[in-house]
Amino acid sequence: NYMKDDKVSHETKNLISTLPSDKDFMGYPLYNYKGCWYYPNILQAVLDVQKHFRPRDTDIILASLPKGGTTWLKSLVFALVHREKYLENPQTHPLLSQNPHDLVPFLEVELYAGSQTPDLTKFPSPMIYSTHMHLNTLREATTKSSSSPCKVVYVCRGIKDTFVSGWHYRNMLHRTKMDQATFELMFDAYCKGVILYGPYWEHVLGYWNGSLEDGENVLFLKYEEMIEEPRVQVKRLAEFLDFPFTEEEEKSGSVEEILKLCSLRNLSNLEINMNGTTRIGIDSNVFFRKGEVGDWKNHLTPQMAKKIDDIVECKLQGSGLIF
Ligand code: A3P
Repeated sequence: NYMKDDKVSHETKNLISTLPSDKDFMGYPLYNYKGCWYYPNILQAVLDVQKHFRPRDTDIILASLPKGGTTWLKSLVFALVHREKYLENPQTHPLLSQNPHDLVPFLEVELYAGSQTPDLTKFPSPMIYSTHMHLNTLREATTKSSSSPCKVVYVCRGIKDTFVSGWHYRNMLHRTKMDQATFELMFDAYCKGVILYGPYWEHVLGYWNGSLEDGENVLFLKYEEMIEEPRVQVKRLAEFLDFPFTEEEEKSGSVEEILKLCSLRNLSNLEINMNGTTRIGIDSNVFFRKGEVGDWKNHLTPQMAKKIDDIVECKLQGSGLIF
């Protein structure tokens, strides 16, 4: 549905007619708005977010590229900031009965999709939102609120695993195995950057530079580092969000409990995530697969890997960001 243009207003149609356009690897039109590729309905929602979304200072926004570790980040941040509420009765924890995507709604893919103006006052503070928008576009909305900008956490994953994860996601979503030709077309689209929310390097660089310029409000996490040293990264996340672990909590194993609760193994084996459907109508199980670093080796030829690595390296040159 999000590839269509049936939710687009007259005003946005006029804007779209002035934007650079291209086709995605399946032939659907994409439009480039401020450096980022969108399908028409998603662009409409992004514009509505910019127009209407005014977060509170205490709200938290989670940002990522699709397949970059969004689900994991959502569960971790939810578990961190609401940890005190479920100490007495851990079996009532919302992550045990709801998919992380239903606890942390997407701004443009859910709340503002379909030209709605959602009532956000019903959500508890701190409200956690998520987005796949570029940082510059997100900030246009968040800095319109009166005081300080709310905190943004970005999770970044290497392009090859992000691509391979995206490939599997599409296959799971459509319950078919797409053919080799489509795999190659999708790969070329990643290399050119003409993918929804792409180019990859623009997305990543926006948040990377944002974290360097304003480290107090933008945190840049790497999926690979979270896999490698989860304790360190979760503590870093908690400190950034102003929900640091106390010494007592550390001693009592609170960090490990959160990691266990949010682990791929735990979440993917819950009934709700095996058989449920998220509010936006996606089978919950498609968000969980292997969660491994380097799964691309099972799918990309060495030539493909070199090609995409060279492109990303060249684009990130001088930024200080390395993988
Ligand atoms: P793989 O397809 O490589 O297994 P997103 O959440 O942005 O849609 O990204 C999905 C990717 O994150 C998938 O990667 C999925 O398996 C992995 N993932 C989902 N939940 C996770 C968790 N709790 N811990 C680690 N990885 C997770």
